[in-house]
Amino acid sequence: MKTTPETVVLVNCGCTDIQKLARAVRARHVYTMVMPYTVPVERVLAEKPVGLIFVGDGDEASIASRVAAFSSVDLPKLVIAEAALQPAVAADLAGSFCFEKCGCTGSWRLDRFIDEAVEDIRKQVGDGRVVLGLSGGVDSSVVAALIHRAIGDRLTCVFVNHGLLRKNEPEMVQEVFARNFKMNLVYIDASDRFLDKLAGVDEPERKRKIIGKEFIDVFAEAAEKIGAPFLGQGTIYPDILESIPLDGNPAGVIKSHHNVGGLPENLKFKLVEPVDRLFKNEVREVGKLLGLPSELLDRHPFPGPSLGVRHIGAIRRETLTILREADAIVTEELRAAGWYHRTWQTFAIFVPVRTVGMKEGRRTYDYVIAIRSINTVDAVTAEVVELPWELLFKMSSRIIREVPGVNRVVYDITHKPPGTIEWE
Ligand code: XMP
Repeated sequence: MKTTPETVVLVNCGCTDIQKLARAVRARHVYTMVMPYTVPVERVLAEKPVGLIFVGDGDEASIASRVAAFSSVDLPKLVIAEAALQPAVAADLAGSFCFEKCGCTGSWRLDRFIDEAVEDIRKQVGDGRVVLGLSGGVDSSVVAALIHRAIGDRLTCVFVNHGLLRKNEPEMVQEVFARNFKMNLVYIDASDRFLDKLAGVDEPERKRKIIGKEFIDVFAEAAEKIGAPFLGQGTIYPDILESIPLDGNPAGVIKSHHNVGGLPENLKFKLVEPVDRLFKNEVREVGKLLGLPSELLDRHPFPGPSLGVRHIGAIRRETLTILREADAIVTEELRAAGWYHRTWQTFAIFVPVRTVGMKEGRRTYDYVIAIRSINTVDAVTAEVVELPWELLFKMSSRIIREVPGVNRVVYDITHKPPGTIEWE
């Protein structure tokens, strides 16, 4: 059982963006948990909350019936009927309620969280060993740093290079972890294995499936050799919240460990999930406190199948190199122009179409690179970012000048919907 901080439970009575309120209250140093109104009262009480906040969508009568279901519970209660309409007001109301009515002391501090998480990992793991798949993404990186702080050498990270990583990514991730943290890191360059399997495959879903299955096989082989009974995972709180249906089966609120990435049944692990109660912004904050560099923590989201879904059609080593180089230029120029943190994702796509162009007075017949830049709140819908023309021209001219095989750059101006963010 993990150490429990002073907790206020937000009972979701139909608010679509309750996570925002939960984060806002946490920013006031009060730990919040979100549960659907269908949750059994005993399940709420098991968290030993010091107060309850019922959050609705404007329909007060239905909230009243939900509050009534908790009438036997002797705890301070607050009803916020329209959190989504007035987020700042709702956050202030909730904050004052926690301090004034529930007696909260503002004890939710991430430095304290780190100490408690480290203790909890030590208790859970004893003198056992943990294996962790490190992707270089924020969540697995922070989990690595946290478990390493708790058990040092008894953590082994496995970093699989599937050949679809961005420029310098394998070096950067190894550098940060192996040198800065002196961490046991098994680096597996499985590029050939992946790229051979992907040869000639142009159907997006098949590409994704091959990458996913191969990844699990490579990781499982490595994990078996290491022989650790525990598996570290970067599950975060929204992963759990999003798997709970609001008015579905109440049993769903008890976390189910479905997030193992499809490892084979015969590999029996006990899971270590030290950030499973944190929101993404808190995970980043913890990473900062643990000394992870901003180049790891503040990166744009990157899909699991990586450059594989940004290289349209069948992947060849030569054309993958084109994409990798073009992508590096896009990122470099975006950062240089101060736009990196103003966009959610900005990246290059390799389009396997050749068009006619001119270079140094001679005819060329080369490939197309597309640039996509979007902003979004939840990745469900997204808007194209109007990057400055000068920046786009700079990206375009550098790509055409520096990346052999490209003579045309286009800008994707499709919102989501109807487009998706990734092209495949
Ligand atoms: P789409 O393309 O569905 O992308 O509009 C929405 C967000 O999800 C990311 N994405 C993925 N992330 N594995 C991931 O971990 C995947 O297979 C995957 N496909 C898309 C995408 O980058 C965007 O942020």
